[in-house]
Amino acid sequence: MPRPEEVVFPGRERFEDRRKERQQRKLLDEFFDHSTLLSISRLVNRGLFDSIDYPISTGKEGGVFRATKGAGARAVKVYRISNAPFRNLPIYALEELRRESSVRNYGGLIFAWTRREHTILGRLKDAGVRAPIPYGHYRNVLVMEYIGSAEGAAPRLKDALIEDPKAVYEDLRTEVGRMVREAKLVHGDLSPYNTLLHEGRVVLIDVAQSISADHPEARRLLIRDITNFAKFFGRLGLDVEPEEFLAAVGGASVGRPAEEA
Ligand SMILES: Nc1ncnc2c1ncn2[C@@H]1O[C@H](COP(=O)(O)OP(=O)(O)OP(=O)(O)O)[C@@H](O)[C@H]1O
Ligand SMILES: [Mg+2]
Repeated sequence: MPRPEEVVFPGRERFEDRRKERQQRKLLDEFFDHSTLLSISRLVNRGLFDSIDYPISTGKEGGVFRATKGAGARAVKVYRISNAPFRNLPIYALEELRRESSVRNYGGLIFAWTRREHTILGRLKDAGVRAPIPYGHYRNVLVMEYIGSAEGAAPRLKDALIEDPKAVYEDLRTEVGRMVREAKLVHGDLSPYNTLLHEGRVVLIDVAQSISADHPEARRLLIRDITNFAKFFGRLGLDVEPEEFLAAVGGASVGRPAEEA
């Protein structure tokens, strides 16, 4: 029998650790339902990655995980198929999605959305825009280039330590310009949340809602993205004129049918 002073109670921290662990497990269970696990195993069998390592980011609609592929890494984005409300899809995006696929049910919508993100990443790669390279997709799972280093994933622009705002702005202007002129796409949700900073350069992510630059809504969306960024750079002490930004990325021809541009 141990004497009373020898009885060791688990410390408060232990309880905290266990509580966090339970929450973590619940979260992962929600992402990796049976059908998602089957999709992952199919992608592993196709050789797209070897194993999933840890979550980089988990949100209401999906999560992004770091995965191992040989000696390197990949990023795996999993859209939840639980019936959590899918992102407030703007009308124009839904229209495009319907045009591209015969989506009849909720699951189908998510699979089409995943495929769309893959297709758009491919178009960006072809146009030379800095964005993750797409490697493949299946149902609600997308495999892409991992942006980061052995120390961890690249930070979002919003969280990054920006030493030279002017250089970052100029880099962003070049990439957005390339997206508009070469890929003929407008991101539509570009912000310091959907831009990573890697080795001092910007990388555009979360591209599924992008629309064609000649879509009637494209101009309004591009102006919204640009105004957002002008405010962001303003807070960093850099004056960015939205009009100048818009002109520099070829905004004059956005939102008009190709033959008019
Ligand atoms: N290819 C990648 N390499 C490294 N990290 C990534 C990659 N893609 C996404 N991330 C990380 O995952 C986060 C979420 O990705 P993304 O913006 O594409 O998804 P989301 O559906 O918008 O999720 P959220 O609503 O949480 O922003 C990003 O903010 C970024 O930190
Ligand atoms: Mg995002």
